[in-house]
Amino acid sequence: MRIISFINMKGGVGKTTSVVEIGTILAREHNKKVLIIDIDPQTNATFSLIGIDDWQEIKDTATIADVLGMNNKFSTRDEEYDINDAIISDVCGINNLDLIPSHIELTFLDLDLSAEPGREDILNRQIEKLENDYDFILIDCPPNLTIAPQNALVVSDYIIVPVAPEFYAAIGLPLLINRIAQLKRKLRGCAVEILGVLFTQVRRTNDHNHHLDTIRKTCTDDIDIHTFQTVIPFTTRISEAAKFNKPASLHNPNADGVTAYKNFTQELLLNLEE
Ligand SMILES: Nc1ncnc2c1ncn2[C@@H]1O[C@H](COP(=O)(O)OP(=O)(O)O)[C@@H](O)[C@H]1O
Ligand SMILES: [Mg+2]
Repeated sequence: MRIISFINMKGGVGKTTSVVEIGTILAREHNKKVLIIDIDPQTNATFSLIGIDDWQEIKDTATIADVLGMNNKFSTRDEEYDINDAIISDVCGINNLDLIPSHIELTFLDLDLSAEPGREDILNRQIEKLENDYDFILIDCPPNLTIAPQNALVVSDYIIVPVAPEFYAAIGLPLLINRIAQLKRKLRGCAVEILGVLFTQVRRTNDHNHHLDTIRKTCTDDIDIHTFQTVIPFTTRISEAAKFNKPASLHNPNADGVTAYKNFTQELLLNLEE
């Protein structure tokens, strides 16, 4: 089982889209058993895969908020919430693609758990209880490094950093890398590695070309971070899929961006020697 978190402190860079598309492609085209965990209170990955009606049914009892110990009705760890109860199987009718949905109330997780010892380790304990044998767990993180993403870092083998090649990305990336290194020292048992930078929303403009080249060079020469060869082009048909609560690879299977995500998934599997 490989656990990969998609992290960047910038919002809108394609974290959610990458998790949803790569998860779908791994399940549909590579016959992998995949669990997507949405730990962003914005619930975007959740609603890219299930409709609001389905979410309403489970929102009070079976989301990542419950898994992470909010709404905790149990007094001892032995009786802790069971992660298996929060899994929605075969989302969008995709065999082998499962989801743990998010909840907007996750915004208050840090407050709720402020006095809880081992609060960065909750997901770790829960994942040990998984009954399904997943090949991949992909975690969609919010644009910060608070308690929920810290839980993600502790359990993850790898981080993929989606980056849109813009001026601010060039500044933010070294900061993100530093902060992750700091957290690794602080979080007990955290052995996560940065697998690489994935360029997303790439336009064929001089500006994007310039920043893409500059960031690749910074990664290689200065911060020793791998950058994936495949880049994801800006494709309007990618963003259109979300309103149908479906991944673009189902709704618009021939969009350029979808082809790019397929190529990227191949590259990822090669990188991981799968
Ligand atoms: N390759 C792409 N081409 C066009 N639009 C994209 C692409 N990737 C993401 N988007 C759109 O950009 C917005 C932000 O993407 P999202 O994946 O939600 O970013 P994040 O999770 O990092 O905040 C969304 O509306 C999404 O549909
Ligand atoms: Mg997101």
